[in-house]
Amino acid sequence: MRNVIFNKILINKYNTEGPRYTSYPTAANFHSEFLINRYLSAVDSSNKDLVPRELSLYIHIPFCNSICYYCACNKVITKNKEKATEYLHYLQQEIDTKGRLFDNDRRVMQLHFGGGTPTFLSDAQIKQLMDVIRRNFNLSKSESRDYAIEVDPRTVTRERLRALSAMGFNRISFGVQDFNPETQKAVNRIQDESMIFSLVEDAKEVGFQSVSVDLIYGLPFQTPDTFTRTMERIVELAPDRVSVFNYAHLPERFKPQRRINQQDLPLPADKLKIYQNTIKQLTDAGYVFIGMDHFALPQDALSKAQGQRKLNRNFQGYTTHADCDLISFGVSAISYMDDCYTQNCYDIAAYIELVRQGSLPITKGLCLVPDDQIRREVIMQLICHFAVDKTKFEEKYEIEFDHYFQAELSLLEPMRNDGLLELKPENISITNKGRLLARVVCMVFDKYLSAKNHGGFSKVI
Ligand SMILES: C[S@@+](CC[C@H](N)C(=O)[O-])C[C@H]1O[C@@H](n2cnc3c(N)ncnc32)[C@H](O)[C@@H]1O
Ligand code: SF4
Repeated sequence: MRNVIFNKILINKYNTEGPRYTSYPTAANFHSEFLINRYLSAVDSSNKDLVPRELSLYIHIPFCNSICYYCACNKVITKNKEKATEYLHYLQQEIDTKGRLFDNDRRVMQLHFGGGTPTFLSDAQIKQLMDVIRRNFNLSKSESRDYAIEVDPRTVTRERLRALSAMGFNRISFGVQDFNPETQKAVNRIQDESMIFSLVEDAKEVGFQSVSVDLIYGLPFQTPDTFTRTMERIVELAPDRVSVFNYAHLPERFKPQRRINQQDLPLPADKLKIYQNTIKQLTDAGYVFIGMDHFALPQDALSKAQGQRKLNRNFQGYTTHADCDLISFGVSAISYMDDCYTQNCYDIAAYIELVRQGSLPITKGLCLVPDDQIRREVIMQLICHFAVDKTKFEEKYEIEFDHYFQAELSLLEPMRNDGLLELKPENISITNKGRLLARVVCMVFDKYLSAKNHGGFSKVI
């Protein structure tokens, strides 16, 4: 296993609940006193750069045909396609409203349709949405653009994939989760292996530059043996990227998870073994281990971004194009620009009502104070690059790093003694032994996390 050492004793010692740091501060800290004027001034100042700043757009489509019991996403299960028609009407209105706020010379280098299931929509609906986006924003045709759509394989055909590629999407991710029939049954997500194989082949043939699959470890009835078999098939499938998520089982928060029996879940020791095997199988097959839970073929843009230290982490996980401002649309969608996070309301009816009144549907947010900015950058460096160059922080923020983080550095001492990281005068670096526990190192720098509010997050591994 290159770049990572799996040390069971240390993992057991440090494995705790903690944020995934797709943002810092995490969404749990966004508050409703956030003022829309603050968002508008962030937009205004983001337009002012001499060289127009590039954009990343996220579109949330919250509908699915059927429920997967494990799911922690913001979605509505319905067979009624009409529900989407009404939602789309207001989504387009939101895109029109926000589109007017941003200068048109700002190129969109990243576009992500997520959900729910974006392909719950018909091709005509997705095309119409793309037309509205194109009318409002400067979409790129560059090879290096990253235009992705999340796809439930049960909702598409080769023809649909061709249509999506023609609309400008060049990256696709399929929800696979596991091939084990017993697991599929227990989570109410039955999908045929051969269908996934033909769709991945079709996606490559119709021109997607990067094909990705999502898997989850820690689901019911998974054992090291069953998951080894799933991973053998994934290696044969040879997608460009593989995301292997740790199952976040929080039944008190996500009601459908109550239909999963706790006693059917793999025991912690087995779960660790499953992840250990997965890392070995994928890296032995030539995949580069990206961050903490992604894998990519060496020629994929994500591997190149990691190699060039251009990896970025946001609500879509690890991504390329680190310097874009993020503008998001639809229920619960989160935007980030000029040190301000904003989040749209969670509920569809409330969202529709706000947009109908002509308001921006933002109901929460947080503007980073200088201390948040410094900590955010430390956490993002650690989680993306596993190292922090202290001198850069001292120059950029005019702080004396060791003095500023005196308390944190002393909390890191035991981790240094256990070999998880190296503390040098000029930098902090996470070792191969500490890599899987990077989230725990980040937690030391998280000012909002106290001993009592670790709850509500999933286990680090
Ligand atoms: C929006 S879904 C992907 C698109 C499509 N709806 C599908 O399921 O194929 C996003 C991904 O999040 C992951 N996911 C959902 N709930 C999860 C949970 N509780 N723990 C870990 N990963 C989860 C799954 O791997 C899923 O594919
Ligand atoms: S995993 Fe995907 S298809 Fe299943 S409920 Fe969640 S969002 Fe919908």
